[in-house]
Amino acid sequence: MSEPIPPPDRGSWGSRLGFILAAAGSAVGLGNLWKFPYLTYRFGGGETDQHGAGTFVFLYLICTVLVGLPLMMAEILIGRRARRNPVGAFKTLRPGTAWKGIGYLGLLAGFVILSYYAVVAGWAAEYVVKSVAFEFGDFQSHVSDDAVYDRVWQEAKEASGDATMPRELAVANFRAAHPDDASLADAMREKKLEAYPVALFHDFLASPGRMVGYFLLFMLLTVGVVLGGIASGIERWNRILMPALLLMLGVLAVRVLTLPGGARAVGFLFQPRLSDITLEMLLFALGQAFFSLSLGMGAILTYGSYLKRSDKVGSSALAIVSLDTVVALTASIIIFGSIFSYGLVMKGSGVGNLFTAIPVIFQHMPGGRVLVVVFYLLICFAALTSTVSLLEVVASYLIDERGMRRPKAVALAAGIITIVGIPCALSFNVLANFTLAGKTIFDLFDYFASNIALPVGGIGIAIFTGWVLTHAEKREELAEVPTPLFRAWHVLIRFVVPVAVTGVLIALLMGRVSG
Ligand code: PHE
Repeated sequence: MSEPIPPPDRGSWGSRLGFILAAAGSAVGLGNLWKFPYLTYRFGGGETDQHGAGTFVFLYLICTVLVGLPLMMAEILIGRRARRNPVGAFKTLRPGTAWKGIGYLGLLAGFVILSYYAVVAGWAAEYVVKSVAFEFGDFQSHVSDDAVYDRVWQEAKEASGDATMPRELAVANFRAAHPDDASLADAMREKKLEAYPVALFHDFLASPGRMVGYFLLFMLLTVGVVLGGIASGIERWNRILMPALLLMLGVLAVRVLTLPGGARAVGFLFQPRLSDITLEMLLFALGQAFFSLSLGMGAILTYGSYLKRSDKVGSSALAIVSLDTVVALTASIIIFGSIFSYGLVMKGSGVGNLFTAIPVIFQHMPGGRVLVVVFYLLICFAALTSTVSLLEVVASYLIDERGMRRPKAVALAAGIITIVGIPCALSFNVLANFTLAGKTIFDLFDYFASNIALPVGGIGIAIFTGWVLTHAEKREELAEVPTPLFRAWHVLIRFVVPVAVTGVLIALLMGRVSG
């Protein structure tokens, strides 16, 4: 193969801050705002055990420091040294070897993640519209008394474990618990308030047109940013969206911390009990660290490839990891603080919580009508800066390796991803019954990306950096890192990261824990 000609459309960051914001933009996303609080809640044992959440958060922080940070440095290092996309980087650094396979796996992960991630991002866009119009406010006229009684019946059956309980009995008990008219009216109102967002969300999921429409809208937004290139597209938008995101997060955090349940949320999150640690908790904490930090598929590697030689790797990685962690913890304080303040529980599982529980919470909160718009905008911004990094991985491959101009590369990549993504958007309605091993297309994509592609990629990147690159190559890239810290990093990337992640994968494949 001939020496690759430097691609004409390969750009670079305008500044190191631009890079840090863009990489933090990639990292901060639905993973922080939805998945992290949700997993924390799940391991927190709900209201019953106050220590589970703290234990999970503690494990997550350990994984972030011992696995996330070293891998983040490795990806930036590889990208900056090779100045190529994930496939080209391995080809450049070790020509003619099979290492480029890690790059191809990353590309595949980029396709797969973007195609379902943009679907959920599209929901956030729809919810910005819903919250501006304040659709959630119409609950009194949209939920009938009968529907409330159905819900009461359902809840009573679940609570008692008696599936044969007659509806009349459940309704009679409910009425008996609210003997006077005023308290019955209050209880009915509260039930309707809770039921309506669920109905709205199911209505939305059931509509193929709207699901696909908002997915396309989000893909278009992503294309719009990536078409602009590195400095004047991705960097420029991240410079606007990231500070706006941090500001919105700050406003919501201050609001929640001044509510009665705010302080309780802090206690809930930061009181670990080491005897509670389980293998399952550890595996989820590690998987979440990968996904949340955008590691294992070359997104950070690609962003690193636009860095200048003079820009420092170690401190940049530290800044990105810190920002991502602070956002995940703050989002959890916001969500748990609101839940505790209003005595609500997060019911059910899955991505729906963000769209069913949040509108209820904000209706209880003073100023909630405006803040709910802020909340969904925040999610949109966070998701957009992540989808942009996913598309850039594929685009950079087409630009570097296939010699395409940026507009053509972006259009081709986005076109294919859109075609693959439409079945994901339809997984909730038309294709809901099209399943493999009990999983819809959407679930399969998420499972493959989070549980297989990212960890395998992470192991590959760690072994490549730890064992294949020479000491001199690494020392040159990390010249500014003091020797003791360099040594510690080297031990982590050679031994701790590959062993820990391989352990997780084996446990997963042996079916010890579910994905
Ligand atoms: N880190 C992003 C999030 O937390 C998701 C992501 C994964 C983005 C992998 C790019 C690459 O939402």
